[in-house]
Amino acid sequence: MAQRISIGTSPQAAISAAVPLLQAGKAIAVPTETVYGLAADATNPRAITRIYETKGRPRFNPLICHMANLAMAERYAVFDPLSRQLAQAFWPGPLTLILPLKADCDIHPLASAGLETVGVRVPRGFTADLIAAFDRPLAAPSANTSGRISPTSADHVEGDLGDKIPLILDAGSAGVGVESTILKVENGTIRLLRPGGLSVEEIEAATGLSVIRPEKAGAIIEAPGMLASHYAPDAAVRLNATEVFDGEAVITFGDVHPKGLEKARLVINLSASGDVAEAASHLFSAMKQADASGATRIAFASIPSHGLGEAINDRLERAAAPRS
Ligand code: TXA
Ligand code: MG
Repeated sequence: MAQRISIGTSPQAAISAAVPLLQAGKAIAVPTETVYGLAADATNPRAITRIYETKGRPRFNPLICHMANLAMAERYAVFDPLSRQLAQAFWPGPLTLILPLKADCDIHPLASAGLETVGVRVPRGFTADLIAAFDRPLAAPSANTSGRISPTSADHVEGDLGDKIPLILDAGSAGVGVESTILKVENGTIRLLRPGGLSVEEIEAATGLSVIRPEKAGAIIEAPGMLASHYAPDAAVRLNATEVFDGEAVITFGDVHPKGLEKARLVINLSASGDVAEAASHLFSAMKQADASGATRIAFASIPSHGLGEAINDRLERAAAPRS
């Protein structure tokens, strides 16, 4: 069973416990502001293999490399001026930039799945300090079995991977609640590869540029992790519910309530005040609770798509996608 250390009492003790494990090539769970990550040394092929094996993740799906700060990121990736501007505006924070790998850098090709680019991000808070102490980038996907719901608490991680990893660092609930926004700058334009915890509105306000969204139908999968079915709870998922059927768990938003709520096994409101950021922070734990209720289906009321609503709706569409 994983040892669990709360970083609240002594961040230094958590760092002292974590660094030797990382140096030994282990994968450990770390808190970030988006979701908990399963982190290992991005320069060590055995460590990276351990991440893929622990998650059951396909090897063609590259990992995000987490850095302590922009200066560290510049040692590993080539920044064009617009990417640097985005990094300066939003790091540390829920933004991942896809950048060319530096020719002589020691990020292992297993972390980048052999691509010439690498996903880079600087997380907020404790984990940036841990990376500074370790002084190497940490490859970290979300700390969940591949295809399942991402963890936003140490309990979520323990329930899913607790018997496969040596250490879980506990910083309470992840504040943002959905994964980072992934951007790629191309010829001075900003392309959105994955909507996430940084809203398109904020990016556009900071840069004065409009963000190019992927075309939905038949889009090439450019972030290889963006497979259609993902974030899948055990229960089936139904979207835009205006009515409840017997035995469903229902997830609502704001003050619009589907008809027949009394038939629901469980009702969770993601944000009674209709705040999409609050809803994002509750999304994954609500999905886990709905699953735990034993409902065979989860019905979601519609959620607006502005701000973090775009990331929420992206995750819900994947949760509802046909499963293979
Ligand atoms: O918030 C987050 O981003 C969390 C925390 C732990 O930082 N991490 C996370 O990692 O969501 P993961 O592995 O679940 O998602 C990484 C995504 C995948 O869709 C992957 O395909 C994409 O990033 N990605 C990584 N490197 C890439 C690259 N070089 N080109 C395109 N997509 C890339
Ligand atoms: Mg993930």
